[in-house]
Amino acid sequence: MTPEQLRQYLTFYQDLGVKNIYRRTPASKPAPAETSAPMELPALSPSGDTLLRIREDIGDCRRCGLCQQRNKIVFGSGNQQARLVFVGEGPGADEDAQGFPFVGRAGQLLTQMIENTAAKEGIPIQRPDVYICNVVKCRPPENRAPSPEEMEICGQFLYRQLMVLQPTAICALGSTAAKALLATKDGVTRLRGKWHAWRDIPLLVTFHPSYLLRPYNQDAKREAWEDLKKVLHFVYD
Ligand code: URA
Repeated sequence: MTPEQLRQYLTFYQDLGVKNIYRRTPASKPAPAETSAPMELPALSPSGDTLLRIREDIGDCRRCGLCQQRNKIVFGSGNQQARLVFVGEGPGADEDAQGFPFVGRAGQLLTQMIENTAAKEGIPIQRPDVYICNVVKCRPPENRAPSPEEMEICGQFLYRQLMVLQPTAICALGSTAAKALLATKDGVTRLRGKWHAWRDIPLLVTFHPSYLLRPYNQDAKREAWEDLKKVLHFVYD
């Protein structure tokens, strides 16, 4: 591990509220000075964690370059007891201005998809009943995809959010969310339509609503509706 990697690692744990990390070596057999014994690493999620505490730990975040152009940090919104969590990529212009996820055009489509599908399927839920958040909490300039480094830095907070929420299922919207939660390079077309898992929580991948807004994606739209039906029935039946 390079000194820089070690520094980043320690910052990561500091962000989680972990104050001390000990290297444990058996008393009877001390490790030779030049070899590095594996570190005993603390849990990634502090005990008694809450969404409020995570938001406080994010603070006025300056951990990556995305802070430079953002207006508002977009933490997440919805029911804190939600049984279903949607994870998007990162805030766009409207979300950056308002501080809430999926409030722009893609968000309106997502709301419609959730509410219309639920109504059609006889499932009594509306958007405020689910929880919605993103992989990165600050808007990437020009709506570019977040870099692997930005995803890693901000991913600790998504991890903690999901650990606190412990939903019945997660729906990953688009390839950035799928990459972040499944550590895969596969695209949505390959991943969608079947169940995966994030730390034992069933996870379904579907198309990002922004992709569905493009006029030529009729097949994807139909498939996204199928995915949504599947996840809604799984969670609420
Ligand atoms: N796209 C996302 O991925 N997230 C949002 O919050 C808005 C648009």
